[in-house]
Amino acid sequence: MVPPRARRPEPPRLAKPVDEVPDGSLAALRREAAGCRRCPLWRDATRTVFGAGPGRARLMLVGEQPGNEEDLAGKPFVGPAGRLLRELLAEAGIDPLQVYLTNTVKHFKFRMRGKRRLHSRANAAEQAACRPWLAAELDRLRPAAVALGAMAAHTLFGNRFGLLRERGRWQVPGPETHALATWHPSAILRMRGPDREAARAQLLSDLRTAAAGLDRGFARPSP
Ligand code: URA
Ligand code: SF4
Repeated sequence: MVPPRARRPEPPRLAKPVDEVPDGSLAALRREAAGCRRCPLWRDATRTVFGAGPGRARLMLVGEQPGNEEDLAGKPFVGPAGRLLRELLAEAGIDPLQVYLTNTVKHFKFRMRGKRRLHSRANAAEQAACRPWLAAELDRLRPAAVALGAMAAHTLFGNRFGLLRERGRWQVPGPETHALATWHPSAILRMRGPDREAARAQLLSDLRTAAAGLDRGFARPSP
């Protein structure tokens, strides 16, 4: 008998559906998103920070929004949160170059304090406007996904998803679709003392869960 062809999991569905998922290759999406005017955030930011990583990546990490350094560099996770993330990926045995990194919202949002640009959270309308890009990235890559922090978790699993309660557990938002949520590395950087150590260990453990899920192709572990 011919064995069934190995199939990739279906793309994680977003909890809040998108009217139309943009089509075209990842490269075409990136070019189109560079001129995106779907919400006002493009006006003050330097550039669109689209996802980055190999188109064949089996794992996608979804953050919140680009920060100051990402806005200047045009790449996700190049600032302090990204450094912590890379450190943890390495500890979890995941090659950061094999991972696709992206964000829920693709422009930096900030307010000025003196000469500094301080991060400010995208509102619900801005998050909704940006969802088609994430939906398209998920659709083209068909990866397993890790949501970093509540914004990404709510986008993937809905607003009733509780990060503290449900982090680190595979969710199945669609048939054959695997995604889990964990701490955002920025949240860990804001913590101090034992809380910080504990959350760091949990984020590491959740990345290991993601790596193990990929390794066994999401088959149920044998009893
Ligand atoms: N935080 C995020 O959520 N994304 C980035 O790209 C950088 C920091
Ligand atoms: Fe477009 Fe998203 Fe930027 Fe808004 S934040 S302009 S929706 S890319």
